[in-house]
Amino acid sequence: MMVGKSSPVKIGQIAALAVAALLLGPWLDHGAVAQETVLSQSTIEQAFPTSSKCKRCHERVFEEWDTSPLSRSIHSPAFRASLDTFLASPAGKDKAQCFRCHAPHVREFPDQVQLFINQAKAGDPSLDGVACAQCHLIKHVDRTKQPPEPKYELESKIVYGPYKDSIQNRAHQSIELGLFQKSDLCLNCHQSVPSAVGLGKANDLLGNWDQSKAAKSGKECQTCHMPEQVGESANGEKKRRVANHTFPGRIGKLRQEAAKLEVKTKVEGEKTTVTVKVQSLVPHNLPTTHPAWATVVLDLDIKGKNLTTVFTDKRVYGRVYQDAKGQKTHFDYEAVKVLEDTVLKPEEARVETFTFPTPKDTKTFDVEATLNYAPITGPAPFLQRVEAESSKGSQDPVFQSIEIVKYAENVAVTK
Ligand code: HEC
Ligand code: HEC
Ligand code: HEC
Ligand code: HEC
Ligand code: HEC
Repeated sequence: MMVGKSSPVKIGQIAALAVAALLLGPWLDHGAVAQETVLSQSTIEQAFPTSSKCKRCHERVFEEWDTSPLSRSIHSPAFRASLDTFLASPAGKDKAQCFRCHAPHVREFPDQVQLFINQAKAGDPSLDGVACAQCHLIKHVDRTKQPPEPKYELESKIVYGPYKDSIQNRAHQSIELGLFQKSDLCLNCHQSVPSAVGLGKANDLLGNWDQSKAAKSGKECQTCHMPEQVGESANGEKKRRVANHTFPGRIGKLRQEAAKLEVKTKVEGEKTTVTVKVQSLVPHNLPTTHPAWATVVLDLDIKGKNLTTVFTDKRVYGRVYQDAKGQKTHFDYEAVKVLEDTVLKPEEARVETFTFPTPKDTKTFDVEATLNYAPITGPAPFLQRVEAESSKGSQDPVFQSIEIVKYAENVAVTK
């Protein structure tokens, strides 16, 4: 047969085969497991559309969310390393535990938990963690459950949000739900985390936040962590009141509103006393103690002649946990007991006193008090693992402290 006579139909068939081979190629290589994976991921993403789908029309919201910690809830080296430690522990039998908050759609696909684990472990998951659909398909939060549980609406292409006058669009129906302006929406992930039996039902993260002045004056989590601004809610629509989706917390301007330091220095001959009043302005615990190594540290630094440090001391705010074997542990999932709780309670003022020998051979000295979020701590093999998992190695941000507020003064040594 002559090549020239081959019909367009045949060329079409060859093209179709080539496409099939391209599509099947990866599947044939990795066998049935890979094929199943692709299908399960697409089933999951039919129910929970990926954030890239929303980005098409909600560019501003997407860009904000993309810079927030929420967009990396299953990506961080610390998460991967602690997920591994968890899965290798007795508590790890409940394989979905971490994902119930870090990628909450696992709640609707409990059989697919291995897919979530594999993707998180691989380090560059294409599955979303806490993304648009994971919040905006929540129809109800059941606060009778401990911790409160989200109920999703998945079948009807309805998106829930804060507006009663949302402009119609081709992608989804919009329904106003008061829940989106209430703390309840956030509590199902932020109120408490599971711990081993003995600690009570769960490890409480926020403390009596609902008794705080802020809560009593009507402030919700969103008031501070999704501050109101004016902008386009959807691309090209009229400007209106919108909510900031960068979720300021440890990162962002909100940190400047976390605490005030009042420092008094008294020189009495050979002895000097520095009193630091740490006033928390946060209406919940500071820090929130998940992961369990999360601490805030007050550092005092006294610099004498030639600015050399002559005295340092610190106070640590956080929780120390014990495991079932009676050892201290940095992992809340194995905690059976709280050994020490120095967390700053909602809006608490704590007074710390430091006494040291008055610096010698100098007319003045510097007093520096700094409040920081401390870097990650834990057993050496765990920290090495975090370092190995990070593309930045020991330069990964978890190994750095984050300054909250600093106070410095120069004090005269009176004769
Ligand atoms: C589905 C679970 C879930 C819900 C619902 C949720 N969060 Fe979170 N949130 C997380 C997780 C997980 C992280 C940590 C992400 C990371 O760094 O890996 C986080 C991080 C944050 C942070 C950053 C904290 C820091 O240390 O800087 C803020 C702020 C925050 N969330 C506020 C909110 C607010 C406000 C709401 C309610 C409108 C909310 N979250 C609802 C799971 C959730
Ligand atoms: C009840 C919800 C919930 C559960 C369950 C949960 N987390 Fe988290 N996780 C959060 C929230 C909320 C944050 C953000 C806390 C903050 O910044 O104050 C967070 C933050 C973290 C962080 C620090 C941020 C990061 O991504 O590096 C790590 C690590 C982490 N979680 C690991 C785990 C592991 C491992 C498990 C399972 C053993 C787990 N979490 C279970 C809600 C949860
Ligand atoms: C942690 C939960 C959470 C996540 C994740 C989240 N949102 Fe929101 N979103 C909210 C809440 C709560 C409000 C209402 C805040 C208010 O009015 O105080 C809101 C408001 C909105 C609004 C209306 C106001 C505005 O700012 O335009 C849109 C649109 C929206 N979200 C889209 C998205 C998209 C798109 C994503 C993903 C890129 C996303 N959201 C991720 C919780 C979330
Ligand atoms: C075809 C464009 C388009 C796509 C795609 C799209 N939206 Fe929207 N969405 C809109 C428009 C337009 C509005 C109305 C904005 C306004 O009223 O200013 C809106 C409003 C919203 C609101 C506010 C609803 C309310 O009643 O408060 C939320 C929340 C929201 N979208 C979430 C999402 C999420 C999540 C996705 C991805 C799963 C998504 N949208 C995909 C166009 C789109
Ligand atoms: C009056 C404002 C205000 C309200 C209301 C508020 N917060 Fe905060 N929150 C702060 C400030 C200030 C900080 C400390 C500085 C920082 O890290 O941004 C903070 C810190 C946080 C952090 C990170 C702290 C850490 O130790 O990792 C999380 C998570 C958080 N808040 C969640 C919530 C949740 C959930 C609610 C609702 C129950 C809430 N906040 C209500 C002001 C507020």
